[in-house]
Amino acid sequence: MKKILITRKLLRSNEDRAKNIWDVKLNLNDELYSQEKLIELSKGCDGVLSALTDKLDKDTINKLPDSVKILSNFAVGFGNIDLEAARKKGIIVTNTPDVLTDATAEIGVLLILGACRRASEGIEGAKASNWKWSADYLIGKQLTGTRLGILGMGRIGQKIAKVAKSLGMVIHYHNRSKLTPDKDQGAIYHENLNDLLSVSDVLSICCPASKETENLINKKALEHLPAGAVVTNIARGDIVDDEALIDALNRRKVYAVGLDVYKGEPNLNPGYLKHKSAFILPHLGSATKETRTAMANLAIDNIEEFFKIGKCKNKVN
Ligand code: GLV
Repeated sequence: MKKILITRKLLRSNEDRAKNIWDVKLNLNDELYSQEKLIELSKGCDGVLSALTDKLDKDTINKLPDSVKILSNFAVGFGNIDLEAARKKGIIVTNTPDVLTDATAEIGVLLILGACRRASEGIEGAKASNWKWSADYLIGKQLTGTRLGILGMGRIGQKIAKVAKSLGMVIHYHNRSKLTPDKDQGAIYHENLNDLLSVSDVLSICCPASKETENLINKKALEHLPAGAVVTNIARGDIVDDEALIDALNRRKVYAVGLDVYKGEPNLNPGYLKHKSAFILPHLGSATKETRTAMANLAIDNIEEFFKIGKCKNKVN
């Protein structure tokens, strides 16, 4: 029987399923394992079902026991894993695409709405019972007719485009390649990132985190946005230079931000705190029961498929 380390607590039904298939090491207290502890616990294991909170960098991967053959990441993103180091060590890395598209796009749309319509300030005012209706109280940005720039038109970007279009937004996108008309939602393609930024009244960051996209939205890039743009990020914190974004907020170059992800989670850069309009969530993209269940099932399927046939369709390295 294969032995699998599951690094974070899963929903009960998923843990029960895993227990029926393998000899599993569960994390009953949902402790955030240090790299040393993860290496220690993976001794004697054939695979690890990891989470985006596990930093599986080169050094950690090189210290994993040789018995570990698969890192099945419980996420669509895999920026927490050094893919090349894993490949060199003969470990396959898999992810959980498709199943979280809808839930994540829902939060992506929430970020756009929350940032544009000043939801943070509104919630604060309502809770403190200290607001007074007036014709100009918390006036925000209306989405109808506003240009939405989608950076990364994968499955999540396409779904956000579909919903935003129904809200009357005009969609533009930048992607490695132009999409076919059945996928592009009628959106306008920009081959160049700066061209996209220059038409993005609202920017929605949906691209994967990688060495190429680290700090892609930096001081220089932000200057290409129209004055008073809104920046939202549903992808990964590493894509945005927070200091540059906070500076753009301070200068009112950027009107508001909507972030579900940010660098150094859970520690938010304090520079955001003085901006009441900042609409910031604690990485909730895939957080629905249906989606988290489907993601864990897929992470389990990936390990089963690999040990059954020696390969896996969701391999990413
Ligand atoms: C969530 O952030 C994921 O990558 O699955």
